[in-house]
Amino acid sequence: MAEGKTGTTKVLMEETRIFEPPKALAENCNAWQWAKKKGFKTEKEMRAWCGEHYLEFWDEMAKTYADWYKPYTKVMDDSGMPYFKWFTGGKVNVFYNAIERHIKAGKGAKVAYHFIPEPTDQAEKDYTYQEIYETVNKLANGLKSLGVVKGDRVSIYMPMLPETVMAMLACAKIGAIHSLVFSGFSSKGFGDRVDDCQAKVVFTSDGFYRRGKPMPLKPQADEATKGIQSVKNVIVLKRTGIEVPWNDAKDVWFHELIKGQSAECKTEELDAEDRLFILYTSGTTGKPKGIEHAHGGYCVTPAQTLHWVFDLKENDVWWCTADVGWITGHSYVAYGPLCLGATTIMYEGSPDFPDFGRWYKIIQEQKVTVFYTAPTAVRMLMKQGEEWPAKYDLSSIRLLGSVGEPLNPEAYIWYRKNFAYDKAPIMDTWWQTETGCFVISPLPMTPCKPGSVAYPLPGFNTTIYDEEGNEVPLGEGGNIVNPTPWPSMLRAFYKDEVRYKKEYWDMYWKVKPGTYLAGDKATRDKDGYWFVQGRIDDVLSVAGHRIANAEVESSLVAHKDVSEAAVIGKPDEIKGEAIIAFVILKKDVKPSDDLAKELKTHVRTTMGPLAIPAGVYFVDDLPKTRSGKIMRRVVKAKALGNPTGDTSALANPEAVDGIPLI
Ligand code: WTA
Repeated sequence: MAEGKTGTTKVLMEETRIFEPPKALAENCNAWQWAKKKGFKTEKEMRAWCGEHYLEFWDEMAKTYADWYKPYTKVMDDSGMPYFKWFTGGKVNVFYNAIERHIKAGKGAKVAYHFIPEPTDQAEKDYTYQEIYETVNKLANGLKSLGVVKGDRVSIYMPMLPETVMAMLACAKIGAIHSLVFSGFSSKGFGDRVDDCQAKVVFTSDGFYRRGKPMPLKPQADEATKGIQSVKNVIVLKRTGIEVPWNDAKDVWFHELIKGQSAECKTEELDAEDRLFILYTSGTTGKPKGIEHAHGGYCVTPAQTLHWVFDLKENDVWWCTADVGWITGHSYVAYGPLCLGATTIMYEGSPDFPDFGRWYKIIQEQKVTVFYTAPTAVRMLMKQGEEWPAKYDLSSIRLLGSVGEPLNPEAYIWYRKNFAYDKAPIMDTWWQTETGCFVISPLPMTPCKPGSVAYPLPGFNTTIYDEEGNEVPLGEGGNIVNPTPWPSMLRAFYKDEVRYKKEYWDMYWKVKPGTYLAGDKATRDKDGYWFVQGRIDDVLSVAGHRIANAEVESSLVAHKDVSEAAVIGKPDEIKGEAIIAFVILKKDVKPSDDLAKELKTHVRTTMGPLAIPAGVYFVDDLPKTRSGKIMRRVVKAKALGNPTGDTSALANPEAVDGIPLI
């Protein structure tokens, strides 16, 4: 899709439509209020000053948005670059900031989560800050009773439920490090991650709902943790009531663990750099990368960016549709909104159950004011037509948001029109698991262009470099980089120093040490508006989720009949990219439709439903370099009918002819 993407971006960069924000919103939004107080005359002036004085800026934000047990002595310490430290000497805990201080301030009765179950015959439920405070304290005491101490890892494999956030908070409270794995992952995917971080305890649930029907989850958790010595206990939340296999020696019900525990528990006063969580994301090699994040940074930027970009005010009803198992859920379902003391909608299920009106109905009934979702969802709903949103009153919406992949102009215009009658601006936010918070995004006062993520946010010096480390002029493309650090940046890869340096810091180390390479390409138009073009590494973006080509390939070659595989992404109207696999079978194995089906099922069981190839093609050979590396770029170009470019490096150029047009 390289060619296609450049072509698309060229069209985007000629975009002339500009959507001015409503005047009242622009005037009164949190970000502009701050700018006015500081005496800035224009947004541009404000963004420039905050980049130049980024340490002063983050210092002020850290003091504004977080409460510290003990003030820090240094805003940022780069002496151990690329291991940057923030707020050194400071003592803090994100649980204190997310929950405890609101109780102290007498705001315990406010609803933190309004939970909406997927089955329509179950009651919705409010979870107040007070209730969360008490349950988390009991749960934290429960974890202690199981021997969990500061620094221990706790893996969480749970559906989209308030209890999942409570499990995260209980870990944070006692200084244990949580590691969520999206519950749609296969047991193998989960097990690999539990093993990598050597978790002491695992949280799961008996099951979850899919299309209103209970499905098991505990058996997958059992399968995953079988033989992993580090796992001493499995805490099981009862969600569906279905029967589960039980091991008395290890398993404990969530409700029994908290029963009889005290609702008082002292929050650990942690160092700002103490780790809060590890979240795995896909990398080039296919082995997932355990991205580490720290308490100090997480007390500051998720809340600050949410406050500025989505302008959350006391009475807003915030709905971020991301699952809490992804970074978007960590920052903008859990920590960000809780630190702001906001009310968040949490919906357990899918947008098309019982019909395509479900999300609109929730917006209408809950009077959602700020709504944040992914382009793949917008495109899926767009395909169902305007008659669905037309049935509901969505006039409560005042701001919209998007994340995960480029929001193409057609979907952008549809989203504006159908979710908010053209009166709410769209905050298209670019960021990553590694950044922990929005990095490039409009603010509510920014005039927006469809398809563009506007500019780097205040406090970021994000720019675009060519291969040599020169900033590229407007109109040209290159690598997205952050030449300066930020508080919620990744701190390390769990136990993998070599890859941490290689993936993010080596590229420009000789010319500009400490420059973070994001792994995306982007370009800016003549007005400086940013357009993100996609990943530079071999990572697919399927429905906004990062899946490494190599991971799907290694799943395929693990099948007994497969000898080699190459996986590419094919542009897909709804999902962004669809996974296509080219497979060389072992000698004497005959290709068949049944085998193609079996391979899809195999990927599903080893990796989970997100990674299922949309197409499996059998080939006799795959183009390779002389060193034996499969040239995915060439496979992709041939399959999509694009020019294959320079194939001189190939050891077997004739293999290209055997790749079918798909
Ligand atoms: C892509 C999700 C275009 C990008 C928060 C990035 C985007 C990867 C956007 C991170 C956007 C995210 N426009 N592309 N607004 N937001 N991306 O770690 O390729 O799951 O590197 O974090 O998603 O995915 P991750």
